[in-house]
Amino acid sequence: MAQLWGGRFSKSTDEKVYEFNASIRFDKRLLTQDIAGSRAHVKMLAATGILTEQEKNQILGGLDSIEADTNNGTLQITDAYEDVHSFVEANLIERIGDAGKKLHTGRSRNDQVALDMKLYTRDRIDETKELIGNLLNTLLDLMKQHTDTYMPGFTHLQKAQPLTLAHHLGAYFEMFLRDDGRLTDIRKRMNLCPLGSGALAGTTYPLDREMTAQLLGFDGATRNSMDSVSDRDYLIEYLSALATIMMHLSRFCEELILWNSNEYQFIEMDDAYSTGSSIMPQKKNPDIAELVRGKTGRVYGALMSMLTTMKGLPLAYNKDMQEDKEMAFDAMDTACGCLDLFTGMLKTVTFNKDRMKESAMMGFTNATDAADYLVNKGIPFRDAHSIIGRLVLYCIGQGKPIDALSIEELKEICPAFDEDLYDAISLETCVSKRLTKGAPGRKAMQEAIAYYEAYLGQDAIQY
Ligand code: ARG
Repeated sequence: MAQLWGGRFSKSTDEKVYEFNASIRFDKRLLTQDIAGSRAHVKMLAATGILTEQEKNQILGGLDSIEADTNNGTLQITDAYEDVHSFVEANLIERIGDAGKKLHTGRSRNDQVALDMKLYTRDRIDETKELIGNLLNTLLDLMKQHTDTYMPGFTHLQKAQPLTLAHHLGAYFEMFLRDDGRLTDIRKRMNLCPLGSGALAGTTYPLDREMTAQLLGFDGATRNSMDSVSDRDYLIEYLSALATIMMHLSRFCEELILWNSNEYQFIEMDDAYSTGSSIMPQKKNPDIAELVRGKTGRVYGALMSMLTTMKGLPLAYNKDMQEDKEMAFDAMDTACGCLDLFTGMLKTVTFNKDRMKESAMMGFTNATDAADYLVNKGIPFRDAHSIIGRLVLYCIGQGKPIDALSIEELKEICPAFDEDLYDAISLETCVSKRLTKGAPGRKAMQEAIAYYEAYLGQDAIQY
């Protein structure tokens, strides 16, 4: 048992208590961040004259060797240490002796862990942004290929109006674009350094907090030491952003699963992203999409858990906050893994254009346009709606789409129908006439695509 605080105690910790209290099993993943924080702290301690240059160099050398040895496997992070902070400090003292005992000057594990968690979260936000960027680029490529790929649009999962695959994918592009913006906002808001806040009330050493902040890539130092050690808002915001990303992925997966079904046949998933059945030889199942949909729940769970952990905590640090790690790490791994897999899956989907077009032509997706046609002939919309309703009923009886009726049949229902109806309600016309901003019409779609292209071009240099 390597503990940093034995002095005040006359009895050693009960073994079960030690295990219950320890966090090394999961906070060992913060090693890189912990060492980065220590490097910055020690450089600042030397710059402000609290440590000598020689002590600084000894400590930096020791930290380098600990990092190198854990990376190459010669040094193991074992349960013998209470947490990652104790692991580094104990090994440092073992390697460099007395100078190592000065590393913790003017620092508490409270501001240390607050820093480690922030640095780790910030790295994962950057990773998530990159994954979202890959997905957005994939979506944009597909949109450019499918501005003329017709398909039915649905409301209530009932065929509604025709649109294009580019337009449908564009809706997801917008969702992930908002996710990207959320991540940028969170990163900007969280980017203040808590190091130097001490246990809760700062320290009496003349620390240069702006220096450590700058060394660690922060925009500045935090403004209130109590808040600094007890703030996990940035983590809650990030988990909330991840939960939203998962919700978007899950909706997309649900649609891909439907489209891949024997009934729809709009798409075919690549063999590399499908699985078989142990009993039914004909099966090719979209398990990956189902799993992404399924894993959404555990990311929501991490968010709820974190909110609940924080809700009753008095200022400042409380041990409850150690619970900020396990589920959050799991949520980060899950969401990043899902984003990556999903993008690969989407890239390899085959779109069955003919089948999508055929589906758009059936199911009266042009009924609204037929009503609009009558409005153009001078019939008030409400009457036109009712006439087309009767027309659809007639068509259902005949088992035909509207444009398969003869002009005589059409005129029987309403004399205002003319030969020009066929062109007015063709699939191509129905889509190309939808030119309002945000609609699937070719020109409107091109404008949206140009905006997305510009966004992705700029995003590379954001923050
Ligand atoms: N393992 C602790 C955590 O994750 C580190 C901070 C411990 N601080 C303390 N005062 N016990 O929160």
